[in-house]
Amino acid sequence: MAVSSSSCSLLLLFLVLAFAAAAPKDYLLGGKPDAWKVPSSESDSLNKWAETVRFRIADHLIFNYEAGKDSVLQVSKEDYVSCNTSNPIKKYNDGKTKVRFDHSGPYYYISGEKGHCEKGEKVIVLVVSQRSSSAAPVSPASAPSRGSGVEGPAVAPSPTSGADVLQGGGVLMAVGVVIAMLVF
Ligand SMILES: *[C@@H]1O[C@H](CO)[C@@H](O)[C@H](O)[C@H]1NC(C)=O
Repeated sequence: MAVSSSSCSLLLLFLVLAFAAAAPKDYLLGGKPDAWKVPSSESDSLNKWAETVRFRIADHLIFNYEAGKDSVLQVSKEDYVSCNTSNPIKKYNDGKTKVRFDHSGPYYYISGEKGHCEKGEKVIVLVVSQRSSSAAPVSPASAPSRGSGVEGPAVAPSPTSGADVLQGGGVLMAVGVVIAMLVF
């Protein structure tokens, strides 16, 4: 009896945590305050970071840089590949750019500063829809989901470090997964 009742409350707690984990999150680009710049090496590539994050609709991504010294351009895939800065979809140069993802799919960002995109200051963000659990894999390291999939968003791969998630959703998610393992 005691066991089943405590299982129930754990399950309840888990569900609450799962909902908290599914709430929109703010991500700092690259997980650090000064990541929007020409990368010092290929291993520093912003896309490596972006691939580890499961971006969802309504999440925000924050680009920090020195206003007037750099800018953020959202561009088409073609312009991303060719580093063409002449016809951006959106342009930001306020130094603390916070973009909101309002639809799923890829978002392409390049620096508007001459020569920066060519040197690797560019990033692709793949946004999955809130409900879709069969979206294209964002992270090659994503763990296979256990059970029937009832867990929903809680089994989504969490960011590499809790610090990436400003609102701490990643930590909650990790706690939820641990509790789920204890319960099931
Ligand atoms: C950039 O795009 C514009 C508009 O599509 C085009 O006219 C221009 O030739 C392109 N520039 C380069 C360098 O590809």
